[in-house]
Order: sequence, then C-alpha cells, then structure tokens
Amino acid sequence: MRDEKSGKRSVGKMPKGRTKLERAWESRAELFLWAKKWRTVLSGSFVRGTTRWFSGARLNITENCLDRHLPLQSDKVAIYWEPNDPDGKGISLTYGELSRAVGRMANVLLSQGVKKGDFVCIYLPMIPEAAIAMLACARIGAVHNFVFGGFSAKSLSDRINDCGARVLITCDVSLRGPKKIDFRVLAEQALAECPKVKKVLFVENGTKRKPLPSLFVSLNKELAKASPICAPTLIGAEDPLFVLYTSGSTGRTKGLLHAAGGYMVYAGYSFNEVFNYQPKEVYWCTADMGWITGHTYSLYGPLLAGATVVMFEGVPTYPTPKRYWEIIEKYRVNIFYTAPTVIRALAAFGPDQVKKLKLKSLRLLGSVGEPLNQEAWHWYHHYIGKGRCPIVDTWWQTETGGILISPPSGGLTKPGSVGLPLPLIDTAIVDSNGKEVRKAGVSGYLCVKGPWPGLAKTILNDSARFVKGYFSKIKGYYFSGDAAWRDSDGYYFVSGRVDDVMNVSGQRIGSAEVENALCLHPDVAEASVVSYRHEIKGEGIYAFIVLKRDRLDADLLREELVVAVARSIGPTAKPGKIQIVTGLPKTRSGKIMRRLLRRLAAGESCVGEDLSTLTDQNVIVDIAKGIVGEK
Ligand code: WTA
Repeated sequence: MRDEKSGKRSVGKMPKGRTKLERAWESRAELFLWAKKWRTVLSGSFVRGTTRWFSGARLNITENCLDRHLPLQSDKVAIYWEPNDPDGKGISLTYGELSRAVGRMANVLLSQGVKKGDFVCIYLPMIPEAAIAMLACARIGAVHNFVFGGFSAKSLSDRINDCGARVLITCDVSLRGPKKIDFRVLAEQALAECPKVKKVLFVENGTKRKPLPSLFVSLNKELAKASPICAPTLIGAEDPLFVLYTSGSTGRTKGLLHAAGGYMVYAGYSFNEVFNYQPKEVYWCTADMGWITGHTYSLYGPLLAGATVVMFEGVPTYPTPKRYWEIIEKYRVNIFYTAPTVIRALAAFGPDQVKKLKLKSLRLLGSVGEPLNQEAWHWYHHYIGKGRCPIVDTWWQTETGGILISPPSGGLTKPGSVGLPLPLIDTAIVDSNGKEVRKAGVSGYLCVKGPWPGLAKTILNDSARFVKGYFSKIKGYYFSGDAAWRDSDGYYFVSGRVDDVMNVSGQRIGSAEVENALCLHPDVAEASVVSYRHEIKGEGIYAFIVLKRDRLDADLLREELVVAVARSIGPTAKPGKIQIVTGLPKTRSGKIMRRLLRRLAAGESCVGEDLSTLTDQNVIVDIAKGIVGEK
C-alpha cells in the first residue's frame, strides 16, 4: 500500500465488521500496489448485479504489472515474441524494456489527445505492439477495446461505434501462416462507418504502399520521438479498465466492461492459484489478445506475477504442425495453456508429429474455451505431457474476468472434468426452478452463488441487459448460460451452452448474429442457425434457409451465403452446412423451435418430441429428408 502523496508504504487500519469473505479478498488485494486504500472491500448487491469492489481505492494496474518488478527484475524477460516466420527475427523484451516501450506508447496517446476515461480501440494481430498498446491505455487511464483480428470490418466498426472510440490503433498487415491479412484495408473499410474516429495510430509493419490517409499517424515515427517515461494516471478501483465484446443470444454483441481494481486482484489471484508460477519459469498462453483469455492470461495475470511469457504471431500449423511444440522446446516453456480445438487439430496430423518430441521443460498443461473431450485429454496428456504433466481444464467466461473452476493445484485431475471451484468461489448447479441440484450426475445450470472481484461491472450502454441476462434468470445467482453436472467428488463437468450461443473453435458466436448476416442476402427470406458436433472445431454451424425465390444454382448460392457471413462477422462464423428448406418448424406464436433443428442437424429423429405446438408438422419430415451429411 502506498500513500498517494508521499509514495511511501502505508498500511491502513482495517475497519471492523468485515465478513470472512471480505477479509479473505482484502488479504489478496494487499499483495498489490495501491496508491490509496479502499474504504470498503465489497459493497452493493450481488443478487442485483451491482457489486462494487475496493471502493475508494486508487491504483494503476501497470504499476503492478511493470513498475513493481523494477529495478529488481529489470533484466528479466517479460515477453519472448516469436514471429510467424520461423526464420524471422524474434524479439525479447525485458521488464525494463517493456516498461519503457509502454511509456513511449502512453506518451504518444497523450500527445494525440487521449485522456483518462476515453475509449481506445485496438485492432492488432499478435505483435508486441498489441500488448504494449493495452498497457499504454491502462497507463493513462484510457479504456481499451481490443477487437480480435479475425473479425470483419463490419464487426470492427460496430465495436468502435458502440464504445464511441475516437482513436484506433492498428497496423498494416497480419501474418498468419502463409496468409497475409490486410489490416489496413479492413480498418479503412471500418472507418468509413465510424465518423467519430479522429486518429488512427498505425504500426507500419508491412512494405510501404500508398501514402497514409490523413487520419493516420505513423506509430513508428511517433514512438521514435516519444519519451520512455510516463507517470501512471491513478484511477478509481471501480473505474473501467477495458471493454471486451462477446456474443450473446440476441443479434447484438455485448461489451462487457471490467473495472480496474477487482479485475486486477482476480487476474493475479487466479493466475497464481491455477498455474502456481515459479520465478524462473516460462509461461505460454496461446490465446490471442482479442479474447478474454488473451487479456487475463496472456497479459495481465502473468505480468502481475512478474512472469516470462511467450507471445506468438502465427498459427499452430505453419510451416508444419510441429510449430507449437518447436516453440515450447525453443523457449523451454514450463506452463502451456491452449484450447481444445488446437489440441484436436494437431492430434489429427497423427502421432508421428509428436512421438519423438521431448518437451522436457513442460510442467503443467492447461485448456480453456470449450469442453476438452476425453480423447483430446488423453492425447494431450500422453503425447505432450508425456504422462507426467497434470492438465488443468479451466472453466470461465468473458464475464467472469478469470478462471472460476479448475482442478486444484497439485490435486487430482480427471479427464473431461474442469475440477473444483477455486478457493473463495462459490459455484452451484441449479435447476430451472431455482433449486440447487446436489445429487451427483444430475445436470443443471452452472451458476455462481456469491460475489468475486473479477465479475464484469456491466454491459456498456445496456446495464438492463446485464441484470436481465445474468441475475434475473435464476434469482439470487449469477447465471452463466452453461449446463454442467458434478460427480460424487464434487468435480464439475461442463456440457455446453443452454442458450442460443454456439462455441466454434472456442469462439462464442450467437445464432442470431449468423441469422442476421444470412438474411442480408437478397434471396433469403428466413434463416435459422444451430450447431452440430464437429470433430475439430467442437461445434460447426448448420444453417437452414428459406428462400424468397427459387435458385437453380444452389451451390453458388451457398458460396454467396458463406461470403456474406464472413463479411458481416468474420471467417469463424461461416456455416459448415447450409440446407435450403421450404419452411422452418414454428410454433403458433411464430417462435422457431431450434431444439428440433438441433436434433435434425445431429442426424437424430424428432420421435418423442411434442410436435403439437407446430403450425406445420410436415416441415420436420421435409427437413429430415434433406439433412446435409459430413463432407
Ligand atoms: C465455454 C472463454 C467447457 C463455456 C474463457 C463458456 C468451456 C464460454 C470451458 C465462455 C471449459 C469456457 N469447458 N466449456 N473449460 N471454458 N467454456 O467468454 O460455454 O470466450 O460459457 O470465455 O466458453 O467463452 P468466453
């Protein structure tokens, strides 16, 4: 604890009357640097979704990620950056160097008029500037809105406009395996729809082409001139640190807003609980900064712990499917955290790719984002962990800020299970009447019973949706939207979403978003989208389409639809199967019964389902006849 004026450590007296939970979180929070201590640890109401953490405290998270490690760890590597090209020149940034790079970027932001509380959109691939830009925003109290590079220009402009950012940080190109993605063109297309953007800070990482448009400022030039020292702007614990957009069950994505104090405490706490990082270890989380996993466990969590992290620009299969494993050997990675879809995709290349690998440095393996099926778990354990590394399958969400459920550090792990709630986290399985399910093997909604500091504050510009979506469905609980069950040891098994959100390669995609994109095509009258089991992606997207007019060129139409979705949302949202149908199964009130479509898409019959509420039962028979098989 530091006094704001004198800069000296000051441990304030703890007011009486704190609950056990508050005292526990207070002791966790005291491990960090705060410029001013909190008045209350926890206030507001959990059941109404209005908890406030560490109110009255002031801090800057970058002091905890950077300054706190200096000068003692100035020469310790903070980031090893591995370029897409395996023969390319990597970069290693020590804590000292990273701190100066952040200082420079922060000064450039200030010089462009960015102030505390302003939203800054970051649209960058996995290059060091991505991490530096996030930290630089945090340094000056600006709120970052990182948009994943795989999103379309339209998704980018929607996210810029929703938060009202006036500054965009982007670059020329993104290199992903053999592909070059033209970020500049995507950004320019997006900007055509973003009248409020006044400046584009541009990383010139490509070959020089046409001159930069007038809004664009070369970051390379500005950074070269900027001072490396930038004093941290102190913000309130409840002030926003970032907004991150994710899919819900309506067509509109939601911007989850996370506040600085609670998020910091939870990112640091959960990182240590789950990964138990040791001072000399090298840690690699493969998540892109555009996802919450990138925010919490590729950046903030490990830097709060003073860890050395690996950051990789490319893809797991380039130039060969051994790339990830080569990176682990190159940097002697001890802790490796990735997604099931990556494990399944690499396993599909066969055992020869991994048999001879030593991977001796590995101590712990992690997984996140979607269910890690037993087969993938065993492959990961056998071929990568060589039977000696425990696997932590971790369950959490953009909303939760950090991991809530994971096998206990040093404890038992079970294939297919995400383990137990972290200490201080109170999860439950609840039935649709709001009653807790205590019996082993019985499935219900995965909920959280009590507050934790990582929970998002709200949905930007839609606080009613926040309360309705997470705190109204099951009174008294946080509703995650997932289904789960427990075994007799209390270990959780997550089966997937219970709402109309799909999980494709670990990415959340709302059915309604894809339906909206499909309906933009002039020949589409109606569309309904569900997911089906996919060997590698976990879930694939199945679209049922009703046309306004017959099209004899169905294959061409399918291609047009796939392109339309990629343009509107991004390539991950492309439907894998498209079936043209004469009608959709609707109830008399007009609601499409996606449950039936899900069964049909899975190749199951609808026998036993109550079809009496359907206006036309024949559509089910017709759809079943035309179900699209695996290609
Ligand atoms: C799913 C990613 C099974 C779940 C951190 C959740 C998982 C959604 C797991 C959140 C897991 C995440 N096992 N399913 N270990 N981890 N999920 O917001 O459906 O991108 O609700 O956060 O991913 O996705 P999000």
